[in-house]
Amino acid sequence: MKLIVGNQKTYLDRDKVLNFIEKTGKVDCSNVVICPSYPYFELFNNKSNFILGSQDVSETGLGASTGEVSAEQLKSFHVQYAIVGHSERRSYQHEDSNVLYHKIKCLLESDIRPIFCIGECLEERESDSTKDVIGKQILEVFDRLEKSEIEKIIIAYEPIWAIGTGITPVNDEIMDTTNYIKDLVNDKFDVSILVLYGGSVNKENISQLGEISAIDGYLIGGASTKADEFLEIMRENSK
Ligand code: 13P
Repeated sequence: MKLIVGNQKTYLDRDKVLNFIEKTGKVDCSNVVICPSYPYFELFNNKSNFILGSQDVSETGLGASTGEVSAEQLKSFHVQYAIVGHSERRSYQHEDSNVLYHKIKCLLESDIRPIFCIGECLEERESDSTKDVIGKQILEVFDRLEKSEIEKIIIAYEPIWAIGTGITPVNDEIMDTTNYIKDLVNDKFDVSILVLYGGSVNKENISQLGEISAIDGYLIGGASTKADEFLEIMRENSK
């Protein structure tokens, strides 16, 4: 069974979160992580079986960082995974590899597994530079980490042009890119890294994506906010 990570972004208000939990929270979620917005952590902890994840983390620890949420604070809510370097944050918050390195260090110190997002934009794909781009994104961070730290990281490959568009690469492309990521990390750091695929995963394409043996799971945005669809994806994944 592959790992499912739901990134609910800023889609849901409190009533919608309660409704989502009511419909989904009691099913077997042993391989399903939900990353809600911070204000909803307690609701998921109290009312659902999902493993709790975070959409982000502060690059500094406990202290004077107004508006941030530190890894220690996440840990105190039993957060087990945290997304780092989502393309929306790389783009809107201008997060670079240096910031992402510090975020990963903070998470590892609090024993939270980072889900490190990488991916190319459309122009990069069209100019055939996907592997150069994602290779650089990986190495700029991993070159500064110990092997024992890299072993705890999960990579999420999310082509930017596939996020929220309903378009996905074909299976062979996802397989090829995933194998490239795994080989790169294996050759350079001697680590067998887990790789998730993200970008327009939904109930229509989940069984087809399930045929890609190289991927270890999915990072799901929009479809993770709709209870019925998410349940269907979970059911399909457990077949
Ligand atoms: P969608 O599943 O909505 O395309 O979003 C993917 C994503 O950004 C998950 O982090």
